[in-house]
Amino acid sequence: MTSTPTAPTAPTTPGTPPPLTSADVAAWYEASDELCKLISGDSFHYGLWQQGDLDGPRPARELATRAQDRMTDFFCDLLGLEPGHHLLDVGCGHGSPALHAARQRGIEVTGCSISHAQITEATRRAAAAEMTKRVRFALGDAMDLPHDSDRFDAVWALDSFPHLHDPVQGLRETARVARPGAPILVTFYTQRAPATDAELAMCRDAFAFCPLPTHAEVLDQVRAAGLTAEQVHDLTEHIAPTGIAYERIYRENRTVVAEKFGTDFAEGMDTTLTDTLTFLTDKTGYVACLLRSSPLS
Ligand SMILES: C[S@@+](CC[C@H](N)C(=O)[O-])C[C@H]1O[C@@H](n2cnc3c(N)ncnc32)[C@H](O)[C@@H]1O
Repeated sequence: MTSTPTAPTAPTTPGTPPPLTSADVAAWYEASDELCKLISGDSFHYGLWQQGDLDGPRPARELATRAQDRMTDFFCDLLGLEPGHHLLDVGCGHGSPALHAARQRGIEVTGCSISHAQITEATRRAAAAEMTKRVRFALGDAMDLPHDSDRFDAVWALDSFPHLHDPVQGLRETARVARPGAPILVTFYTQRAPATDAELAMCRDAFAFCPLPTHAEVLDQVRAAGLTAEQVHDLTEHIAPTGIAYERIYRENRTVVAEKFGTDFAEGMDTTLTDTLTFLTDKTGYVACLLRSSPLS
């Protein structure tokens, strides 16, 4: 996915909201952990949808998982992952993309996230899959990674950068821990049209996103971090059905949401979910960048 919208909160006063810190984002994920599992599923990143994917009677959750795994496979291909490679997963969620990549490509993965609940769940999943020798997870901030320099054969950050208040520092950190010349894949949510104050507040409250860059600003950030964009894939059209899918997942699981989180919560979701998902679909873009350290950086 994308991140799952949280329950409605008290309306934020219009105006420039204070910058989100990593601690704010961690607290948001801790509070929404159960809801994220329910709506986003095992992976939290966007799916790569194909025509007709949403047709038919299958539960939307199953269809979304298939699209998410397809996106993970696409990213594995972009990075050229091969058996024996060691991948760093920056912002690893509950560990499903890492486990999928390790299983499919025979690689080793180290994952990090600022959410304690996610690291606990990801570690549990690695153990359940009997993959702890090749797949490990630990707490770590993308803007100050706890890893040695020049260590990884590849690095990816799947849908974690919208949360970073200093994305250039996050990019520099990916470059520092990647072996010289190793590929780095980062996905960015972009701002397609100028956001209103109310939309900025929604991004912050419903998704824990920092103000989103434009497509051009993403490329500026990449250059500022001393990286070269070898490939830039605008996947906006390919992720578009996600909003419809999440709406369906919510409707199919509304009873569970009401049981777990209360009727007031579900009624709040009933009124806000469409607006938040429409904002993502209509106002934001999605770009995957394959990066490498510039030779002279
Ligand atoms: C939308 S989720 C994507 C999770 C995972 N990449 C996936 O595809 O399932 C964003 C992830 O970024 C993590 N994150 C947000 N800010 C972070 C930071 N400063 N450092 C490390 N991880 C961060 C969140 O905890 C979460 O795991």
